[in-house]
Amino acid sequence: MHITMIGGGYVGLVSGACLAAFGADVTVIEHDPTRLDRLKAGEVPIYEPGLEDLIAEQRQAERLTFSGNLAPALQKSRAVFIAVGTPTRRGSGHADLSYVHAAARAIAAHAPDNLLIVTKSTVPVGTGRQVAAIVRQARPELTFHIASNPEFLREGHAITDFMDPDRIIIGLEDISDTTSPARSLLEDLYAPLKEPKSRLLFMGLESAELTKYAANAFLAMKVTFANEMADLCEATGGNITDVTRGMGMDPRISAHFLTPGPGYGGSCFPKDTQALATSARQAGTPTQLIETTIAANEARKRRLAERVLTLAGDNIIHSTIAVLGLTFKAHTDDMRQAPSLTILPLLHEAGATLRVYDPQGMEAARKLLPEGITYAHSPLHAAEDADILLILTEWPEFIPITPAQLAPRMRGTLILDYRQIWQEKTWRDAGFRYHCLGMRHPTQT
Ligand code: UDX
Repeated sequence: MHITMIGGGYVGLVSGACLAAFGADVTVIEHDPTRLDRLKAGEVPIYEPGLEDLIAEQRQAERLTFSGNLAPALQKSRAVFIAVGTPTRRGSGHADLSYVHAAARAIAAHAPDNLLIVTKSTVPVGTGRQVAAIVRQARPELTFHIASNPEFLREGHAITDFMDPDRIIIGLEDISDTTSPARSLLEDLYAPLKEPKSRLLFMGLESAELTKYAANAFLAMKVTFANEMADLCEATGGNITDVTRGMGMDPRISAHFLTPGPGYGGSCFPKDTQALATSARQAGTPTQLIETTIAANEARKRRLAERVLTLAGDNIIHSTIAVLGLTFKAHTDDMRQAPSLTILPLLHEAGATLRVYDPQGMEAARKLLPEGITYAHSPLHAAEDADILLILTEWPEFIPITPAQLAPRMRGTLILDYRQIWQEKTWRDAGFRYHCLGMRHPTQT
C-alpha cells in the first residue's frame, strides 16, 4: 500500500519511517527545499534515538522516499497523512492551522478518488471536518474519506511509542459503519502491530481530536500537581519521593508523571494545554483546571529562578552558577519551552555568571539564551569555579558524577538538584549543601 505523509518534521519523519517498517510504501513530502535536500542526502535533521538507522534501513529497502512534489505521490496513494506543524498563534492560545489548511487545499488539488485523508498533527476539535469541507468545496465530485489518528509520541522514545503503542486512537466520520473503507484501510496499515485489535480504538472524529488534547493536558496537570506537592513537602517537612510513591501505588493514580521538576516544557504540553483551554473557552465550557495548570507552570519556572537568587544572596553579581541540562527533558535536543529559557535569563539579568552544559541542546540554546553565557564542553568543565551547581535536565550522564569530582573544581558547595538525580546523603556527607525539590533541606529550620 502506498501512502503519502505531508510534513518531514518530527511527527512526519517518525510516523513515515515506522509505517514503512510496517511494510507500507511511504513518500514523505517536505516543502522546505533545504530540509528536503538534507533528508535526501541521508541526514536526519532532528535528534531522536534510533531514527537515523530506521530511516536509512527503510530507504535502502526502497519503502521510504522524500519528495517536494505532492501530485505524483498522491496519485498512487490510498491514504495521505497530514503531519504538519500546529504552533500556537502569536498573542492567543489558538493553534495556528494555516499549514493544515494549506495541506488540505493541496490534497484537494491532486487527490485521486477514494483517497483516505488522515490528520496526524495535533489539531483542535473540529479540524477534521474543516479539512473535509475544504476538500469538498474544491472538488465536489471527489469521493474521499476522512479520519483522525493523533500521535502520542514522546521525544526520546518515539520509535518504541509508535511500534508498541498503548493505544491507537482512530476517529471516523461514521463510527456506526464497521466496514467503512477508512476503518479497513487503517486496520490494514496497523495490522503488523502485536495484537492490533486490542490497541485500535475507534471513535468519532471529535472524540479522537479531543482525546489527544485531554491526554496531554491531564499529564501536564499531573506533573503540576506533583510540583505543588513538592513545594508543600519542602514547607512542612515531608518527602515528595515517599508521598508520590505512596500515591502511585494506587493503580487509579499510577506512579507515572509524578516526578517534580522545574516545570513542564517541550513542543506538546505547553501548546496543547493552551489550545485545549482556548477550545473550551470558545465552546462556552472553560476548563478551570487547565487554565490554572498553565498559570501554575509559568509561575513555577520564575519562582525556581527566584529561589536560586535568594540562596545566592547579595553576592549574586560575584556568583558563578554551573547549569547542567538545558533541554526540556533528557534524550532530546529540543529547547522548546524548556524551563532553562525562563530561569537562565532571570539569573543572567540579576548579574550571575553562567557556565552551562547540555549533551544535545547547546546548539539550539545559543540562539535562544542571552549573550555572555559560557558553554562548557563537559559537566565538569561547567562546574569549574562555580559557587552554585544547578541541575535542570535529568540526563543520564550526570548521574555518575561524584562529590570527589566536583569538590576540587567548584568554589562553593551549594547544589540545587531540580530533577532529583542524586542522593542527598552522598552529597551532604561530602560537605555539600544539597537541595533537592520536594525535600526540606537540613539547614532549613
Ligand atoms: C508528550 C506526551 O507524553 C506524548 O504522549 C505526546 O504526544 C507529546 O507530548 P514529550 O513532550 O516528548 O511527550 O514529553 P514528556 O516525556 O511527556 O514530558 C513532558 C514534560 O513534563 C517535560 O518537560 C518533562 O520534564 C515533564 N515531566 C514529565 C516532569 O516534570 N515530571 C514527570 O514526572 C514527567
